Amino acid sequence: MIGFPDNFLWGGAIAANQAEGAYTEGGKGLSVQDVTRKGWLEKPQEFPTEDNLKLKGIDFYHRYKEDIKLFAEMGFKVFRLSISWPRIFPNGDENTPNEDGLKFYDDVFDTCLKYGIEPLVTLSHYETPLHLTKKYDGWRNRKVIDFFEKYVEVVFKRYKNKVKYWLTFNEINSITHVPFLSGGINTRKTELTKKDIYQAIHHELVASARAVKKCHEMIPNAQIGCMILGIPVYPLTPKPKDVWKSIESERENYYFSDIQVRGYYPSYTKRFFKENDIELEITEQDRIDLKNTVDFVSFSYYMSVCASTDPTKKSGKGNIIGGIPNPYLESSEWGWQIDPLGLRIYLNELYDRYQKPLFIVENGLGAIDTLVTLEDGTKTVIDDYRINYMNDHLVQVSEAIEDGVDIMGYTSWGCIDLVSFTTAEIKKRYGFIYVDRNDDGSGTMERYKKKSFEWYKKVIETNGDSLEYK
Ligand code: BG6
Repeated sequence: MIGFPDNFLWGGAIAANQAEGAYTEGGKGLSVQDVTRKGWLEKPQEFPTEDNLKLKGIDFYHRYKEDIKLFAEMGFKVFRLSISWPRIFPNGDENTPNEDGLKFYDDVFDTCLKYGIEPLVTLSHYETPLHLTKKYDGWRNRKVIDFFEKYVEVVFKRYKNKVKYWLTFNEINSITHVPFLSGGINTRKTELTKKDIYQAIHHELVASARAVKKCHEMIPNAQIGCMILGIPVYPLTPKPKDVWKSIESERENYYFSDIQVRGYYPSYTKRFFKENDIELEITEQDRIDLKNTVDFVSFSYYMSVCASTDPTKKSGKGNIIGGIPNPYLESSEWGWQIDPLGLRIYLNELYDRYQKPLFIVENGLGAIDTLVTLEDGTKTVIDDYRINYMNDHLVQVSEAIEDGVDIMGYTSWGCIDLVSFTTAEIKKRYGFIYVDRNDDGSGTMERYKKKSFEWYKKVIETNGDSLEYK
């Protein structure tokens, strides 16, 4: 085997809204996440209520020094996190940024750099300022492009000497499924037409391209990528109709990266727009802006799905988008189908399509963990299931490298336990580090190393040589 390149960026990932807590501290404004609640992705509330675990998260806002030290102990080369937009612009449309918010991320990045960890920063991870949602209907409104551009300019200027890796919008393709959380769109999904959604997408794509342009101008030595919810779609049977259906389903997701990587709308959109009565407002300047294409393609990968034309086949559970379950795969406790080879397939497909470096910025197993006390009094979690999951996925990453795919790095999702995005529970844990917090809000917030902590440390130390090829 060729193995992982020497400069492979090993690390972990979190998002501000699922980890920081401190939802009103340091002058932060409310984000769309602050008005959600357990088990409910779509319908916002008027005000934040205490049953929303995201309000306190895992208190990363106050404990980041301790947490980053633990990441350094595992040998992280990179740490993916997001800047909470409403920490910098509490309402999103003001002229002056919030200095306390800027200072917070200065401290976080300095702590990373102290340990030789490169921050990989998502500019927008499901954290649209709530005010933009209420006043402008989020990304449906063209004005939000300018607000975003201003925010991006401020953070590029401030952190240009600290951050070399950037991502624009987290899982940009999720907007068609969760327009409120992904697109900050206040209008109920049932009242939105396809045109409304695709116009909002257009605005986001232009905003993403403008951020790429700014990044290249302001931080020439940095790299900026797009971020896609990666979900390969297999035909459920070899029937040609099912194969075609799977191609159509994949295009619903490729639509976004095709534009972000190539700089223009792909040819298949013509027919799609015509048949769905979508006439977009695209200016000449928009077309020029879109030509600012990303340096690399990043994505989350948790599962694959199947497509079928058989109306009796129903969608199963899954990462936002979901799809028909594959009869050959097993599922996690949350019904997400586990498919390590799917990661190799997807990496190859993306690389064949774009020939751009790829970055796996989310992958991992959400599972129920039990904290146990060992004979010497140490508290830990024996999470062999997580080790197996990650081992098998990383083996497929190395296979893809052998296949010739250019892969920059791997940041496992929720490297420290955090509040789940789709279900807002904390009992769905992903971390190498256990956080003592429970779904009823109780817990000390203490951190404990799980068995997978030492396992991942070894993987990084040996640059993947310790992985088990079964
Ligand atoms: C991705 C998101 O959809 O999947 C993360 O980018 C999220 O924010 C992750 O946490 C896992 O999903 P969940 O619902 O298990 O937290």
